[in-house]
Amino acid sequence: MNAASQAIGVFDSGVGGLTVLRALVTALPDESWIYLGDTARLPYGTKSATTVQRYALRAAEVLVERGIKALVVACNTASAAALPALRERFAHLPVIGVVEPGAAAAVAASRTGRIAVIATESTVAGGAYVRAIAALQPDAQVQSLACQVFVALAEEGWIEGEAVLAAAHRYLDGWFATDAAHPDVLLLGCTHFPVLAPVLSQVLGPRVSVVDASAAVAQTLCRALAERGLLAPSGHQGSAPLLLATDGVARFARVGATFLGHALAAEHVQLVDL
Ligand code: DGL
Repeated sequence: MNAASQAIGVFDSGVGGLTVLRALVTALPDESWIYLGDTARLPYGTKSATTVQRYALRAAEVLVERGIKALVVACNTASAAALPALRERFAHLPVIGVVEPGAAAAVAASRTGRIAVIATESTVAGGAYVRAIAALQPDAQVQSLACQVFVALAEEGWIEGEAVLAAAHRYLDGWFATDAAHPDVLLLGCTHFPVLAPVLSQVLGPRVSVVDASAAVAQTLCRALAERGLLAPSGHQGSAPLLLATDGVARFARVGATFLGHALAAEHVQLVDL
C-alpha cells in the first residue's frame, strides 16, 4: 500500500480523544483512522510524567505496528509529557500533539491576553501550556488549574446535570468571580473536556470564550500531511474509524458515542493488549 493510503493513528487514555477524532474526520473525510483508547491505564492525568511517557510510547508503538502514516496524540497529558520522546522514537512519522494547536487557538481567541487553562493534574504540573502560550504571546497572563474530576465525569458520560454544575462552580467560581480582570478565554486543555463545554459556557456566561483545540489540531495535521505529500488521494474513500480499547469495550462504545456524536455498538470496538 502506498504511504498516502495508510491510516492515521490517534490515541488517548480513554474516550476523550474521540472529541479530537470527530474534528479530524470532519476536516479530512477521505482519510482512514485507527483510534486507541488506553482505558486499562486511564487516567493518565494523575500519573507521573515518566509513567505517562512510558504508556504513550507503548500506545504509539501498537498503532505504528499496524502501519500508519501519521500519529495524533489526542491527549494533552501525553502531549505534555511525551511529545519529544514520541517524535524521537517515531522520527519517520509526523507526530502531532494537542498542546501547541490549543495554545494558538487560545491566543487567537483572547482580546485581553488573560487566558485560563483547565487540564489534568499532570498537564498543569508540567507547565506545558504556560510555556506554549508564552512562546506565542510573551506578555499573556496564563493561569492553569487541574480539574481532574471533569475526566471522571466525562468518562461516566455525565456531561450535564447537577453533579457537573456543582463541579464547574467549585473549580471555576473563584477564578471568574467579580474581578474585572478575569480571563476572557477558558482553554480546554484536556480532550475529555469539550463534551462539558455547554455547561462550562453556562456557568461562565458570555464574557468568557470556551476554546477547544480540536479544530486547530485538524488544521495542523492537514498541513503536516500536505507538506509531506501524504494526504489521501482525492476520491479515496475513508472507511469508518477502527476503534481499539485496552479494556471495557462495551463501556467504551456506550460512553464513546457521546464523544463521537453517533451511536457505537460494542462490536465496533476491538479489545487490544499493550
Ligand atoms: N484526555 C486526556 C488529556 O487530554 C487525559 C485524561 C486522563 O487520562 O486523565 O489530558
